[in-house]
Amino acid sequence: MEDLYLQWPERVRNQLSNWGSISLNVRPRSIVFCGMGGSGVIGDYVYMLSYRIKGYPPVIVVKDYRLPGFVGTEDLVFIISYSGNTLETLACFHEALKRTKNIVIIASNGKLIEEAEEKNIPYILIPQNLLPRTALPDMLYAILGILDSSKLSIVTLDEARKALDFLASVLDQVVEEAKVIAEHFYNRIPVITVSTSFYGLGIRAKNEFNENAKVPVKVEVVPEWAHNDIVGWEGDSKYPWSILVIHGVDDNVSELLMEFAENYYKQIGLPVKTLILSGANTLEKLLYGSLILGLASVYLAKMYNVNPVETKSITQYKNMLHKISRELDRVG
Ligand code: F6R
Repeated sequence: MEDLYLQWPERVRNQLSNWGSISLNVRPRSIVFCGMGGSGVIGDYVYMLSYRIKGYPPVIVVKDYRLPGFVGTEDLVFIISYSGNTLETLACFHEALKRTKNIVIIASNGKLIEEAEEKNIPYILIPQNLLPRTALPDMLYAILGILDSSKLSIVTLDEARKALDFLASVLDQVVEEAKVIAEHFYNRIPVITVSTSFYGLGIRAKNEFNENAKVPVKVEVVPEWAHNDIVGWEGDSKYPWSILVIHGVDDNVSELLMEFAENYYKQIGLPVKTLILSGANTLEKLLYGSLILGLASVYLAKMYNVNPVETKSITQYKNMLHKISRELDRVG
């Protein structure tokens, strides 16, 4: 499992050959990303990467079985499912087919690829035999490549290449940092505190610790955190929390806010560890943080003696979903 993370720089370098393989001729009103879990988080990453680009179409992240009502002919819809069989994502896909011609599929296999071929919908195939969560950079790079080749660039090919070089150059440091974080969370309930600019990294980290280490996790996003959650700590909490504060946004205000959060947790006596995101830009920082936190969740799984690969309860949920699949496709 550790290998599936440590391979990121080399594995994803192969993906760069797909860059430019799909180039869309569309000026969308909005770009909608549909997907669940490890595939759904890709939408959050595109949201974060595009958030500050002036004039960029709004990015909408859908982690549901229904498309938002506004989606129509002017919008571009990405359907992302590593397995290609996730029923919520398939339901969104079927609804999208009725609303717009601008659809692109990202999957490794499954119904989505079958239907893409049947219906002549552009798609990018992600390598098989990975777990969805470990294919984060593969799926992200597939989308960044399409956007860049479609005059909707948020990351250039050069930046994408440099980010992989950067990741390869910090692997040893990443492994060390991941081990320290795993130790910090051992026998405690992780609380991951991020700034809004990196909210998706917080979600991603939570999902990683949930799925790999089998632990519940709390994510807090600053400054919203300071308008509600902060008060929750005024009570006398008996739970063994363990706080991780993620720094690294390159604006001073954000740093001051994160420092406030860090000091607040310390002042009330909670164990705090900080993670400073390295990297020359948001993509590098996101990959750096994702790799550290993914590895940390695998190391924590080892410490708990649990199998990081298995996700039995997701299977239990998906089996239930199959039973109601006809209803699911009718809601649209
Ligand atoms: C992550 C994981 C899940 C899936 C989710 C959706 O590794 O196993 O979060 O990503 O159940 O499945 P896919 O990604 O196949 O659409």
